[in-house]
Formats: sequence, structure tokens, C-alpha cells
Amino acid sequence: MGEGRRSGLRSRAWFDNPDNIDMTALYVERYLNFGLSLEELRSDKPIIGIAQTGSDLSPCNRHHLVLAERMREGIREAGGIAMEFPVHPIQETGKRPTAGLDRNLAYLGLVEALYGYPLDGVILTTGCDKTTPALLMAAATVNLPAIALSVGPMLNGWFKGERTGSGTIVWHARQLLAAGKIDDEGFIRLVASSAPSTGFCNTMGTASTMNSLAEALGMMLPGTAAIPAPYRDRQEAAYKTGLRIVDMVREDLKPSDIMTREAFHNAIVVNSAIGGSTNAPIHLAAIARHIGVELALKEWETVGHKVPLLVNLQPAGEYLGEDYYRAGSVPAVVSQLIEQGLIREGAMTVNGKTIGDNCRGVEIEDERVIRPFATPLMKDAGFVVFTGNLFDAAIMKTSVISPEFRARYLSNPDDPDAFEGPAVVFDGPEDYHHRIDDPSLGITPATLMFMRGAGPIGYPGAAEVVNMRPPSYLITEGITALPCIGDGRQSGTSGSPSILNASPEAAAMGGLALLRTGDRVRIDLNVGTVDVLIPDEELAERRRVLTEAGGFAYPASQTPWQEIQRSVVGQMNTGAILEGAEKYQRIAQT
Ligand code: FES
Ligand code: MG
Repeated sequence: MGEGRRSGLRSRAWFDNPDNIDMTALYVERYLNFGLSLEELRSDKPIIGIAQTGSDLSPCNRHHLVLAERMREGIREAGGIAMEFPVHPIQETGKRPTAGLDRNLAYLGLVEALYGYPLDGVILTTGCDKTTPALLMAAATVNLPAIALSVGPMLNGWFKGERTGSGTIVWHARQLLAAGKIDDEGFIRLVASSAPSTGFCNTMGTASTMNSLAEALGMMLPGTAAIPAPYRDRQEAAYKTGLRIVDMVREDLKPSDIMTREAFHNAIVVNSAIGGSTNAPIHLAAIARHIGVELALKEWETVGHKVPLLVNLQPAGEYLGEDYYRAGSVPAVVSQLIEQGLIREGAMTVNGKTIGDNCRGVEIEDERVIRPFATPLMKDAGFVVFTGNLFDAAIMKTSVISPEFRARYLSNPDDPDAFEGPAVVFDGPEDYHHRIDDPSLGITPATLMFMRGAGPIGYPGAAEVVNMRPPSYLITEGITALPCIGDGRQSGTSGSPSILNASPEAAAMGGLALLRTGDRVRIDLNVGTVDVLIPDEELAERRRVLTEAGGFAYPASQTPWQEIQRSVVGQMNTGAILEGAEKYQRIAQT
């Protein structure tokens, strides 16, 4: 399958290379250190890397340290040799200033490890938001046989008999705190209830999304993305993943055979049906570029917008990760989509079968959690791609627009899809936190809140800050959300209907850099435009003045990597990758 390879295993070039006995001796001598015999190391056993993302710094993925034992057993059982090694830690919630910086850094590090060490295949231990794309991006560049293993979500969180979902509960608890309904202690206890076990966020945030999409892309064994971390089935999935990667090496089944354009289209369709995160377009664009597949942002709308929301998980719905798994998870969702002809059934997956063969006929086990296609939670649940005079591209997750929001903004019978209002502009998250409750800003229910300086360059890595809560005085009056627009990202666990990922960002002198508080802005959800209602000449003049003043100001870099990444990172509509890295492709074959 795929392009040809040299005879034998890639690792033979290190350990059994008659043309270079000097180097072979050097390599063999030190790798014996962890208990292999000389014969074993020089045998025809494939060497399988376990790219370990779990650590104390990365608690969402920490359970992979336990699962690695079962992966090793599977690898050994199938006749391979396991070599586990660490991946640069990425923890979505713990990393300052943003975990967005770590995705590309972990990518770089893993590419070096996979390319430069004696590996024939690799297990990618995925989980917390950016770990999944970082590892898939590296596997795409290197193109070594690779299989992803999700660490799985946490068990459901509960508080006073109600499900509390990770991340999502934070947005809710902040509103309760701002409204004076709970105190600081109550705030912490409510939030802590949502994290009852090991695993990643149990809501349909970026972690659940990206793992579901890794499975939809074909890079994970069917039915394994959503098994909760503590479940017995999760251990079994680790074992089977270990077994399978050895055979993938023998079959030479590589990421380029699996992550095709068809596979990306399947992932987009699945993302709509699960109510997936607004971070998914960034990460899929990045993976696609590294594997050399053309994927335009607009395809999220053309391929994905008309797909209904089937999965009833927070933040768009009510259930959590355990319920999703028990209801049938990705295969049950894909099966519904197959019946409608929405899935490219011929796309290959890691188990050597097509996605069609894996998922056709899989039944939903609980229709409260996964709805049949005929009775969705919402029609047209995919993203809408926006453009206009403030940016070239941005997206909105329409599945989280609440009925109250619709009633407030989209009730003009003459203009049912559009609304306009005065802008209040914040320059980065610190500015927002300082000023949001300042009454002199004059924020009313008609205000449109803008966040800028939060993109990959402005706030290195791009901050998840576009979803902004209104000032406390409005929350007390029952206004819990205002329209938010910005060049940052938004947590996948947020239910806010924001227009985000605006590219180019203000720091790259996109149109948002020219916006001023008080400008009127019009949003049209039907044609997908956001425009500031001032003449082009005025915008051009503002651009001239700002450019002469040195451009849009943003904070200085605090670390060497921030500076390096800022100098080469692209914009979010094209994946925010390290520009130039995409020309290195299929390097395991070189
Ligand atoms: Fe790691 Fe949500 S913070 S998965
Ligand atoms: Mg996130």
C-alpha cells in the first residue's frame, strides 16, 4: 500500500546494517540498556514508538502512563518491540500564556523524534485539546505507520443531582459568581465537581471533538475515541492498539493512505453532527497541510453546514462523555450519516477496513444522547464562514445559538438574519478583564463586543478568549450573552455563539486593528458577513495612520519560543502552522 519502501524495516538501518557496522555497533550497544537481547534488537521485529503525552504537567493525558503498559503488551504479543518516549507537555488549562504555543512546539519535537530515531511505527497517545492535532500533524509530516489512542474523557461530573460538564460549568459558574448567587468557595466546589476522574474534558469540547475526528479521519480504532478513561474497555483499546500497529507496519499502512481528502470531508461532516469545537477547523487545516491535502476553510460551510446536530452533549446539549460512549459514540453517528450518503465510505482506516465497513449498520444505543438523523437536535448545525471588511475569514458555530439569542437579535421580519450595533473593543484578555465591569463603557444589550490582539501573533499561540461574559449589571438583568467577535479562539466547551478565529488578526494588520469603540458594525448570518459601517476611505486613512505609528501594538515575547513562533506562524484560517514546515513531507521515506 502507498509508495514503495526499501527492503525490510526502517529500523534495520540502525541495528542491522551490514554496510555500516561501526554505526550499527554504536546504536546496538546503547539500546540494549533497557533489557533487550542483542538477537532481539537485530531481529525482524518492528520497533514501535509510544509517543507519550501523559505527565504530571498534563493531567488530562496522565492516564496514558498507565495505558502504556497495555500498549506494550499488545505490541509484544504481536511480535514488536515497544520504545516509549516523552512528548513536550501540552495542558490546555495550565499553560501560560496559551497552550496554542505548545501545539507547534510538540509537533516540531515529535517530527525530530520520529525521523531521527529507529522507529518503524508509532502509537500517538492523544487526549487534551492540542495533543491530538500536534501528534497527527507530526505523523502526517513523517508518514510512518501511525495509530492514535485516545486517553478518553473523564467520568460524568455531578453536582446536586445534575450533570456538570468540564469547562462548560466554568462559564456557568462565572455567571453565578458575577450575579452574587455563589461565593468564591461555592465557585471552586461547583467547578471541581465536573472533574471526578482521570481523563480529558467530558463535554464536547476540543478534546472530545479532536479525538472523535481522529477516529472519523480513520486514524483510531473504530469505537475507541470516546471510551471513558477509567473504563475497562479503555485498557482493552490500548492493548488492541498495540497489537494493530505492529500489523500496520507489516502492511506498510501509512497516514497518507488514511488521511486523504475524503477522510477530511468525513471529519468535517462528523464535526457538525457531534456539535464539535470551533478549534477543529484550525487543527484539521494544519493536519491537512502537513499531509499535503487541499482543504479550504470554506469547505467547512459547503461540506459541513447543512449537517444536523445529532449528539446531545454539553455545551450544545445536556449529556456528557459516559453517555456519549454508551449511546454508541462515533460509529453510531457515522452510521446515521452513511444512511444519508454524507460519508465517503471508501476512506481507509487504521484497522485496514474502510470507514463504511466499520460503521455501516451500527445502531444507536440511546436516542436521548445520539439522535437519529430524522429527529436531530438542530438542523444545519455546521459552521458558517464569515468575511467582510474586518477580516478575510472567521467562523461561527451556529449550533449553540440559543432561542433567547435568536429572539433578541434575529427577530426583525424585514431583515431576519442580520443585526447591527455599536462596537466595544478590547485589546487582549487583560484589557477585557480590567474594563468589563466599568459602567463608563456603556455596554447595553445592543452592544457587539470585540476582542482583538488575541491571535497567533498578538497573543502568542492565540488565546481562547473571544467568548466574553457581559458586565455583571447586565447578567443581573438576565442578559447572559452578547454577540462576540474576535481574532482569538474560543474554548470548545463554551456555548457562546461567537464569530472567532478572525484572520488575518489585528497583529497582522487585519481590519480589526482599525476598529474603534463606538463604530457601528453589521452582522449578516445569511450571507456570512461582518462589516464596520464606515467608508472605505476612512478605513484606508486609519490604516495609514496606524502603519505610520508602527502598526498594531501587542505585548513583547516572554520566551525564545514565543519569538520564534511569532516570526513564522501563519494565520488560523490556514491552520496556524509554522509556515515552511509543510514542504517537508513523507520524510520517513527519505
Ligand atoms: Fe485538557 Fe479539557 S483541559 S481536555
Ligand atoms: Mg480549549
